[in-house]
Amino acid sequence: MNIRETPQSAIPTSGGGKDGVRFGIDPYRDWLAAEGIPVVEDFGVFLFDVKTAPWPRYGVKGAAVHLKGRGDFANMFVLEIAPGQSTAPQQHLYEEVVYVLEGAGSTQVELADGTRRSFEWGAKSLFAIPLNARHRHFNGSGTERALLVTTTNLPMVMNVFHNEAFVFGNAFDFGERAGKKEYFAGEGDLITVRQGNHMWETNFVPDLTAIELKSWGDRGAGGTNIMFVLADGTMHAHISEMPVGTYKKGHRHGPSFHVMCVMGQGFSLLWFEHEKDFRRVDWKHGMVLVPCDRQFHQHFNTGPQPARYLATAVGGLRYPTTLANRISLLGAGGDDLPAVSKSVKEGGDQIEYEDQDPRIHRIWLEEMRKNGAPPKMEKFIPTPADMKAPA
Ligand SMILES: [Fe+2]
Repeated sequence: MNIRETPQSAIPTSGGGKDGVRFGIDPYRDWLAAEGIPVVEDFGVFLFDVKTAPWPRYGVKGAAVHLKGRGDFANMFVLEIAPGQSTAPQQHLYEEVVYVLEGAGSTQVELADGTRRSFEWGAKSLFAIPLNARHRHFNGSGTERALLVTTTNLPMVMNVFHNEAFVFGNAFDFGERAGKKEYFAGEGDLITVRQGNHMWETNFVPDLTAIELKSWGDRGAGGTNIMFVLADGTMHAHISEMPVGTYKKGHRHGPSFHVMCVMGQGFSLLWFEHEKDFRRVDWKHGMVLVPCDRQFHQHFNTGPQPARYLATAVGGLRYPTTLANRISLLGAGGDDLPAVSKSVKEGGDQIEYEDQDPRIHRIWLEEMRKNGAPPKMEKFIPTPADMKAPA
């Protein structure tokens, strides 16, 4: 039985043999089953199509989304807030990063000293709720729904404590996580680390399509990115952009990186080492895909404008959380490059353009031709003679 291909829904949740012997228990999945919301599972999921159902805890409709590559620690929830409605107040000991798929509204966060902070979001806003801060979301429209997707580390937290009352009913104040007041107003601090690892510390990003990105030479072809530190949390979030006519280098890392198309068009290829074929997921706003643990993947821009994607995961640059993330993002120590920026020929996890399977460039060129978009990869990888436009 293969962990990658086995539907998680097919694995028994609570163990338990004869005589009430308890074993093999998954407290997160047991909790989720009791919440009574739909659960969707796949390699890639179009979030606008996820069926939601009333979720008594939140007072709005919701669903859970389990991408096959989510690993042990992360999940997603979709929250659908009807026109004029709001979520019931929540407080919990897990972290969440919220991405607005559509709609406009506001979120109110109550700090332990009673101070309230609120901010207004719209489609493609990103924010985090400081750990254990009481909060609620309001749909600001009387006619349109608001659709939010959250990436959380609830599976990790619930499986460690396996006590719902502790996770959802604990008053402990993590005051330092709230950060500066301005962080709730969309302002932040740029923390320069090195190419590919510059961080923007804040709690709220009003518009992911507008935020300025920094050069990331390692990943190839003029790409730019920015890492986020949100509410001083351990959840990872970064945004990455590929210029028109380009694609990034293939690479691999640990699980849980939820990749969401923010702007532009393109696709991703995913494959495990020694696999003959690629799995392809096409991008559009609302699509999320998650490469599995150590699964190679590569992102391609195939449209007439820059393509941006957001990635959320457990373990960020400030708090990598797992050794796999630390080595991926920071390297193994000393002068070592981050594994995701180091060639597989040197023991890293990145496939240089010249080493990639020749079929990959052809798949992309074919797509570019269909879209009438101009390829600009000639200086990195020459176009095969039979695919050159006739002179
Ligand atoms: Fe990746």
